[in-house]
Amino acid sequence: MSILVTGGAGFIGSNFILDWLGQSAEPVINLDALTYAGNLENLARLEGDPRHRFVRGDIGDADLLARLLREHRPRAILHFAAESHVDRSIHGPEAFIQTNCVGAFRLLQAALAYWEGLAGAERAAFRFLHVSTDEVYGSLAPDAPPFREGDRYAPNSPYSASKAASDHLVRAYHHTYGLPTLTTNCSNNYGPFQFPEKLIPLVLHNALSGLPLPIYGDGLQVRDWLYVADHCTALRRVLEAGRTGEVYNIGGGHEMANLDLVHALCEVLDARRPRADGRSYREQIAFVADRPGHDRRYAIDAARIRQELGWRPAESFRSGLEKTVAWYLAHADWSAHVTSGAYRAWVGLHYGEAA
Ligand code: NAD
Ligand code: DAU
Repeated sequence: MSILVTGGAGFIGSNFILDWLGQSAEPVINLDALTYAGNLENLARLEGDPRHRFVRGDIGDADLLARLLREHRPRAILHFAAESHVDRSIHGPEAFIQTNCVGAFRLLQAALAYWEGLAGAERAAFRFLHVSTDEVYGSLAPDAPPFREGDRYAPNSPYSASKAASDHLVRAYHHTYGLPTLTTNCSNNYGPFQFPEKLIPLVLHNALSGLPLPIYGDGLQVRDWLYVADHCTALRRVLEAGRTGEVYNIGGGHEMANLDLVHALCEVLDARRPRADGRSYREQIAFVADRPGHDRRYAIDAARIRQELGWRPAESFRSGLEKTVAWYLAHADWSAHVTSGAYRAWVGLHYGEAA
């Protein structure tokens, strides 16, 4: 038996594969196009491990998908691959449509053809797990209850619209063809191997490089943070015991305004790696222009996965944050590698030269 993971060289995918192979003998076929966000260094620990088979390729490549499924006969597909950064989707939405919509469609087509060719126990056991986001539900008012499964979709960015489209396709492939799908909608993740375009690793990188810590608008936008290892545990549970055709919201139950989050990060850094001049990293905070269409608040009601599948996050926000900062401080080489070349071009385009 094996599983096929797409996007396994990215942030959550690589954490998932390391976690999976840390507790299972079952091989993983990892299909990843290695875009700017994919990095095989994340999986260096698995070098020479026959349980990890890496294939560089695009989820939009129908022939490659058919060949991989025929050759490896996985019992499940876990679909992580995506263009994932909201700001990039605002500058250039096309890649998001291509990968998140067309790519997801090709993957579903290939999965359907493969599943229809299976018989008996193999067919009954097969699962297609689609990893999605809470952003498909749109923006919450300050006093609104957190997102529940079945809430109206109201995506506001090209990124979230493209993910919403893929969620709808997954739903349709279950409803129309019976493909045994599972969909998860998760809140903001943080932890090791997150590309420093996202808020937490960006702030850590800039703080340590003596650069401004950019806060969009008033910094009072709220996100619900989940340590990435807890997301991985949730995905394992959903794969193991989730009801097919069902949706599971996953969240840390820890809402926080961006400004408070950045203050917390500065506090941890001040304690672990004080600035040479003895002043706080907070002094580097800089308010910058807001993200167009910026969603004000996300929050997840994770009652379904908690009650049906017994999942709960193991980390508190504080313990996860401490682990994350410790990881970035210990892996300056990783950050240096991923922030060369193309990264600098992105920072120049999005924040201007000063960032
Ligand atoms: P990421 O950007 O770090 O990684 C994406 C990976 O997909 C990269 O390795 C990239 O090379 C690969 N990829 C991109 N296009 C591809 C293509 N056409 N074919 C094959 N591989 C391709 O993303 P992430 O943060 O790890 O997110 C993974 C998934 O989880 C995404 O679907 C995202 O929407 C979802 N998600 C992310 C978060 C979060 O906070 N990061 C929260 C909820 C859901
Ligand atoms: O909610 C789940 C989503 O979380 C995932 O689906 C996305 O893939 C992931 O990127 C993330 O989206 P966000 O837009 O919430 O994450 P980001 O790290 O880009 O931003 C977090 C918040 O911080 C958001 O309100 C914007 C703000 N921000 C971000 C950056 C990069 C800033 O204030 N300054 C910044 O420089």
